[in-house]
Amino acid sequence: MKIALLGYGTVGRSLDELLKRRDIGIEVKRILRRKKDPTDPRVTDRFEDILEDREIECAAEAMSGKEPADSFLKRLMESGRHVVSANKAAIASDLRGLKELSEKMNTDFLFEASCGGTIPWIENIKEMAMADEILSVRGILNGTCNFIIDKMEREGLDFNEALKKAQDLGYAEADPTADIGGYDTYNKCVISCSLAYRGYVPTDIPVLGMQDIGKGFLSELYKEGKTVRYMMLSERRGERVALGVVPTVISKDSIEANVRDNYNCASMVGATAGELKFYGQGSGGFPTADAMVRDLLRVRDRKAEPNVLDRRLISDDSLLTGTGYFPDGRIKGTLAELCGKAREKNMFMAFEEDGIKDA
Ligand SMILES: NC(=O)c1ccc[n+]([C@@H]2O[C@H](COP(=O)([O-])OP(=O)(O)OC[C@H]3O[C@@H](n4cnc5c(N)ncnc54)[C@H](OP(=O)(O)O)[C@@H]3O)[C@@H](O)[C@H]2O)c1
Repeated sequence: MKIALLGYGTVGRSLDELLKRRDIGIEVKRILRRKKDPTDPRVTDRFEDILEDREIECAAEAMSGKEPADSFLKRLMESGRHVVSANKAAIASDLRGLKELSEKMNTDFLFEASCGGTIPWIENIKEMAMADEILSVRGILNGTCNFIIDKMEREGLDFNEALKKAQDLGYAEADPTADIGGYDTYNKCVISCSLAYRGYVPTDIPVLGMQDIGKGFLSELYKEGKTVRYMMLSERRGERVALGVVPTVISKDSIEANVRDNYNCASMVGATAGELKFYGQGSGGFPTADAMVRDLLRVRDRKAEPNVLDRRLISDDSLLTGTGYFPDGRIKGTLAELCGKAREKNMFMAFEEDGIKDA
């Protein structure tokens, strides 16, 4: 199968390298990037060169940002090409548009690499959602944020020192806003929950950044046998759903509290299967490219997938209730109310969930 690579940065380069190393019959015929590269005849800065090459059956997209990636993905689908993408910003911004177009055109649209790097998360969600009722999806899905909290916790660094360390090691971008402000986790939350709950979830959900987690707050929690992780939370009962992204207070003994460095850990709860946890490297060029290779193999083997997004979901904030840890005290409420209060007062807040309710 001949493919095009869209984007040749950390992930695109790693994918090219992996496909060269593994003899799996997938050849990169063209590469789209902004910079021309006279040493590599595959490279072009004209998207039309890829569209016009009828030998190209599939595109692997690893560009940065929503646009022009979203438009390119749609034009590729309209031309009958299969698409594999790691670009959660583009996918989350119009999951419905992309899914519906791929169904209309009968092309594959796979995005395992968009959430949780190399962790086989997306495909397992889809499989579970078809067989069981998924009641809850949650987890640590941003390695940079986890690295920062872990360094604060284990090495006693303050937030800015831990962020600097993450940047020095190449985990955090020079502009870390998307990670620490929650946009990256938000995108992964929207993608994961839509698939898990089999409908397009509301996108106006509570999101609080993690930049105000302080060393003092961590040591206060420690005395109570608790700690904090930056997590996406979601609950679903029937067609009702609640989602959010927030610094989350958890027990020091929980599996999530022991997720170290830039690792991710995501879980889902099936009505029949109970809780399943997925742990591994959530970012990095090769781990992410590895997930894209698995998607490309699915395209090559053309396992056409059924429509897994066939429900109409309703937002219900009362599904996520708990305690907000504010600097001036603790308040009970829904995640949405507490996040609203934190934003209104421009205050830090971490959220501790009440026990998981029955269906
Ligand atoms: N890095 C990770 O660990 C990771 C993990 C999971 C998912 N992802 C996702 O994977 C995608 C790629 O990440 P990355 O770390 O590889 O990013 P990156 O190193 O910044 O590379 C982005 C690539 O996109 C190309 N590009 C951007 N705008 C373009 C345009 N208008 N036309 C043509 N090419 C354009 C850039 O071209 P130039 O080379 O010419 O600048 C570059 O090659 C992102 O969406 C990211 O969210 C990354």
